[in-house]
Amino acid sequence: MRIAIIGAGHVGLVSAACLSQFGFTVTCVDSQHRKVAALRTGEVPIHEPGLDRLLAANIDAGRLSFTADMAEAVPEADVAMLAVATPGREDGRADLSFVRQAARQLADALDGYTVLAIRSTVPVGTCREIAAIVRERRPDADFDIVSNPEFLREGAAISDFMHPDRVVVGVESARARAVMSALYRPLSPAESPILFTTPETAELAKYAANCFLATRVAFINEFADLCERLGADVRDLARAIGLDRRIGRHHLRPGPGFGGACLPKDAAALVRTARQPGAPSAVVEAVLHSNARRKAAMVGRIVDACGGSLAGKTVAVLGIAFKPATDTVRESPALAILPELMKRGAAIRAFDPAGMENARPLLDGVAWCRDAYDAATGADALLVLTEWNQFRALDLDRLRALLRTPLLLDLRNIYDPAQAAAAGLRHVGLGLPPQRLAVLHRVAVSQDAG
Ligand code: UGA
Repeated sequence: MRIAIIGAGHVGLVSAACLSQFGFTVTCVDSQHRKVAALRTGEVPIHEPGLDRLLAANIDAGRLSFTADMAEAVPEADVAMLAVATPGREDGRADLSFVRQAARQLADALDGYTVLAIRSTVPVGTCREIAAIVRERRPDADFDIVSNPEFLREGAAISDFMHPDRVVVGVESARARAVMSALYRPLSPAESPILFTTPETAELAKYAANCFLATRVAFINEFADLCERLGADVRDLARAIGLDRRIGRHHLRPGPGFGGACLPKDAAALVRTARQPGAPSAVVEAVLHSNARRKAAMVGRIVDACGGSLAGKTVAVLGIAFKPATDTVRESPALAILPELMKRGAAIRAFDPAGMENARPLLDGVAWCRDAYDAATGADALLVLTEWNQFRALDLDRLRALLRTPLLLDLRNIYDPAQAAAAGLRHVGLGLPPQRLAVLHRVAVSQDAG
């Protein structure tokens, strides 16, 4: 089977790498000539663990190539996947101009029966709209259109592609269904069922999944606040509810608010989509408000922990990317929080293992550091915003010695308060009980175990 993938962004490149690894012949098309030239030489423009090796291996094996010309990839293809960007517009709606433009170019290049699979996150009805665009331009074309939303987490996208919890295909023709079954045959059917639905259901399922994940994060963030007020521990609480299989344990870690290219954008787009036919989503609207409040509240928490004023203080920041293992800073809590800290008089020394290049133009006035220890030098607080593995086992004694004020603001709960206290650091986490209660609890648990 031959596959054309339109768009060499995160989703396009991961899909291209994984499908060529399965043994298919894949050509990835991108209109940016420079990007194509770089990809041909093995240069990968994004940070995704394992992607560079997988791309290089499949280029070497002759199964994967790149071009800027649709006519080189599409006529031969059995499946043409559209994976171009659908950025969020000011009003919350998804901008479909790249999808429409790609569809027109694709239509011109079609030859023989082709399944057009929409992989970009698009509003409900887009499959039908794209089918109409292609049909109008090429009444003679032999094609079917399917919705095949992606569920790839940044930082874990290769494994999510190779071992998905499910594959969703919105399809109306038996012929296209057979082609899509063949495309995903390399996956283990027991581990990764394929769900065939209508195109509308598939399109909406993508929004529903991201909105649900966003809801879970907003929920646990609110409960973290409640835990603090009531002397409970959100880590145990998340486990206590997450072990209930009806609830599940994922996306229940409190933090400074969800960000990234997907959850905030898709939740905002869903709010728009739902209002139009008169079925507004009060839940998702509340989630977005809660998340915006969350990021603002983190500023207050940092100011309070620093004694009520940031004037003349230095805050060392660990983590700028919206989550670990990515260089994406879009909608990252850091972009909302750091300017506010600087406005209040703080100097910022920051380090992120992959996100600094993308953050530099967006965060004026930040001193970029070599590593966590460099950032901490002379600072009045060490603020953890992203839970990179590199930050999980830092030498706390060394940090204590480097900091001017021994304060660890751990907004991802990656350190145990007692461990920080043992190193002489005051630990401020999220949703944790006062130290005295935590110690009593540990004593009780160890007595029970004994
Ligand atoms: C999300 C979905 O998880 C993917 O399934 C989906 O395919 C993707 O969007 C997409 O639409 O392309 P991603 O944006 O990579 O993936 O990030 P998540 O892992 O979902 O995290 C989103 C945000 O929530 C991050 O800021 C993260 O720090 C935060 N989060 C996540 C928490 O604060 N706590 C958690 O327990 C989990």
